[in-house]
Amino acid sequence: MTVDRRSRPDTTRPAGPVSTYTEWDPLEEVIVGTMRGAAVPQWDVAVESCVPASARELFTRSAGQPWPRAHAEAAEAELDAFAGFLTSRGIVVTRPDPVDHTRSFSTPRWSSPGGLYSAMPRDLLLVVGDMIIESPMAWRSRYFEADAYHRLLTDYFRRGARWIAAPRPLLDDDTFDAGFDRETPFATGSYATTEVEPTFDAADFTRCGTDLFAQRSHVTNRLGIEWVARHLDPEYTVHIVETIDPYPMHIDASFVPLAPGKLLLNRNKVKDVPSVLDAWDVRVAPEPAVPDDFELYMSSPTVGMNVLMLSETQVVVEAQETALADMLDGWGFDILPIPFRNVMRFGGCFHCVTADVRRRGELRSVV
Ligand code: NVA
Repeated sequence: MTVDRRSRPDTTRPAGPVSTYTEWDPLEEVIVGTMRGAAVPQWDVAVESCVPASARELFTRSAGQPWPRAHAEAAEAELDAFAGFLTSRGIVVTRPDPVDHTRSFSTPRWSSPGGLYSAMPRDLLLVVGDMIIESPMAWRSRYFEADAYHRLLTDYFRRGARWIAAPRPLLDDDTFDAGFDRETPFATGSYATTEVEPTFDAADFTRCGTDLFAQRSHVTNRLGIEWVARHLDPEYTVHIVETIDPYPMHIDASFVPLAPGKLLLNRNKVKDVPSVLDAWDVRVAPEPAVPDDFELYMSSPTVGMNVLMLSETQVVVEAQETALADMLDGWGFDILPIPFRNVMRFGGCFHCVTADVRRRGELRSVV
């Protein structure tokens, strides 16, 4: 028996079930997350570093229990409607398997009162070309989050995709630094995760063909970025985006490539764009529409920047983010407005709740 040892994407073959190089090539198949079975995560150093302080009381009181039901159900209704919208446009949509995240679990070294959710596959699955990488998440509550996708990923693998998981982290206490810099971690290099082992969330990476951009965050450390860079095929380069974000977790509401030559930027989180993008048109996102009294459990109000491109010109934008929609319209994009504010409560928008499986296009350099 021989085994196909592809060392790099073979562009002479028809694209397999998994093939995606950018954030904007025409979307053909996508995983959309679900809030079903979701649980409140436990409050710990890694969680505290990234979520609003107002969440502390709920997370401490209700760790491992279901989220407030009305909020979770409203979010799920929006996710189902979004999945239906994508299907109506001819995009193949798959959903994670049902998982009860309220079940407690242990490793030999620590235990957790429950998990989190299967709502944000982007956080977990880094898809580059024909390869799916499972991330070594730094939040203990997310340790087994990939299980919800195991059957799906096995199917993609059976049909020809490459599938790997980063080394399982230990997540002992020394993976975290309770004395992390809560004001300027980017200046001092003092983050909630140390460098004792690689950790990363897939959503701290964004893809522009042969060039990927990543940020050091409270959940993604330098070793994690190095691990990804060394495991990609030699055609790829990973650039680090230097942020000015006090709560860095996921690059996709800070530094958002929309199309070749077009980058949407969160001016409060990123000051300098890597020089490799000097020729790109970089525009700053307007103020978000989310009112101050709207309860966001897990993110800042700028999460509406977390848009999803269906192609180089078509962008899915939260229906109430009208300033952002107007700005993108004036930049030449076709706006597809979808209500999603209830999902935004849980830390992400259209980009976070999806993982691209297939976009029509080939590997190329756009920088
Ligand atoms: N952690 C980011 C959201 C990323 C989608 C924020 O709070 O803005």
